[in-house]
Amino acid sequence: MTWRNPLRDPRDKRLPRIAGPSSLVIFGVTGDLARKKLMPAIYDLAHRGLLPAGFSLIGFARRDWEHQDFGELVHDSVKEHARTPFKESVWNRLAEGIRFVQGTFDDDDAFDRLAQTVRELDAERGTGGNTAFYLSIPPGAFPVVTKQLARSGLAEADENTWRRVVIEKPFGHDLASAKELNAIVNDVFPEESVFRIDHYLGKETVQNILALRFANQLFEPLWNANYIDHVQITMAEDIGLGGRAGYYDGIGAARDVIQNHLLQLLAFTAMDEPLSFEPKALRAEKAKVLAATKPMGPLEETTARGQYAGGWQGGTKVPGLLQEAGFAKDSTTETYAAVTLEVQNRRWAGVPFYLRTGKRMGRRVTEIAVVFKRAPHLPFDSTSTEELGQNALVIRVQPDEGITLRFGSKVPGTTMEVRDVTMDFGYGHAFTESSPEAYERLILDVLLGEPSLFPVNEEVEISWEILDPVLEHWAKLGTAPEQYPPGSWGPKSADEMLERTGRNWRRP
Ligand code: BG6
Repeated sequence: MTWRNPLRDPRDKRLPRIAGPSSLVIFGVTGDLARKKLMPAIYDLAHRGLLPAGFSLIGFARRDWEHQDFGELVHDSVKEHARTPFKESVWNRLAEGIRFVQGTFDDDDAFDRLAQTVRELDAERGTGGNTAFYLSIPPGAFPVVTKQLARSGLAEADENTWRRVVIEKPFGHDLASAKELNAIVNDVFPEESVFRIDHYLGKETVQNILALRFANQLFEPLWNANYIDHVQITMAEDIGLGGRAGYYDGIGAARDVIQNHLLQLLAFTAMDEPLSFEPKALRAEKAKVLAATKPMGPLEETTARGQYAGGWQGGTKVPGLLQEAGFAKDSTTETYAAVTLEVQNRRWAGVPFYLRTGKRMGRRVTEIAVVFKRAPHLPFDSTSTEELGQNALVIRVQPDEGITLRFGSKVPGTTMEVRDVTMDFGYGHAFTESSPEAYERLILDVLLGEPSLFPVNEEVEISWEILDPVLEHWAKLGTAPEQYPPGSWGPKSADEMLERTGRNWRRP
């Protein structure tokens, strides 16, 4: 039976939602993600009053630590990375429920101790026997951990309690391995208890794509191949990969980001209106649009890859990927990837969706640019519209969250010169509340048992089906990705990829 939160009356439109009695176990507490995102998000939820009174956090790791050593780690990561201000009273309440269990993943005793700790916390603090297990660990460790959770009885819920598992990407490295991984997880946890994290779906600006499209009359009539020329989805980062070789070498930009975040952005942008925002209805539309999405060929002309070289980035000398610690000296891992996709249905036939992502680029920016066709006829003389581009609606996912509409306007004082101008919506101006971090929303949804923002295995597998042909094409080439200078907008081949079609990448 699921715990029903009395505040969650469906008629209650207020967001404050408080999780029911529960505890959270994190595997991989010493990793970057746990320190920079997960533990700070838990504090932020506590600070917002959205965690239940007896909420307990259990860390599991190899280190020879006592409870207070782990407590210090949480404390330091909260102080450094939490979004909301540090308050002693909030911290002290959270700290009372912090425990640590020392062990390795193949250690039966350690998992038995973990089960014991979960039971004790339930008795002491009233966690209701409800526990979520967050696997912030490499996917190679999923089989052993899920097996241990089954063996120790931790995975088992009775009719009055729940047990959920949260898994971080990558969900495999291709379709075949994703299927294997899904089978391993589903062997222990029923699908409704599996929460696959794609943290982009936790972002306010991403959820807002659905509000923009389906709450307004203005955009949807134009949202199709009759009016839209193409869509550009960009996720650029200015940081390099120092310290991440263990995860990234051999994975690369396409698997790291296009397979999940960018395809989810495409799905939100291209999907049909769901029957409702119930999880089943939303996921059905996402799966449908992803199933219609295919790479547009020929792949040697419609895809591009690159690897950042060493050099100067904004006054700082930075190493190239091949000089970063831990990367193979002849690594062919791409740090930039661009692909052309087509959604093969009536709404989108013939409209290219260009997806690109890269590390060490000009600046950090994620955006979706919906670029419209030119007006079919311009009743001006040609010199008056030389500076007029195509209309575009740009969803600025981050930073500087907002939406920009670009259109032509008469330049004052001229007879009739038309030039592009922009109209802007910025979260910072329109709302006084700052947006919660993606992980706040998603961790809370796990505790509430709200699955809407978590991709199901079907979506994950379809996403690999889309990407696999591109990855196979690159593997067959057997060449190294093209080098690009740090601080640039990627390799030349990516520019050529668009120029060939008479288009250009935006320079956000
Ligand atoms: C992660 C990727 O999923 O997203 C990282 O593995 C990337 O490589 C990160 O840096 C970016 O997240 P955000 O929220 O900062 O855009």
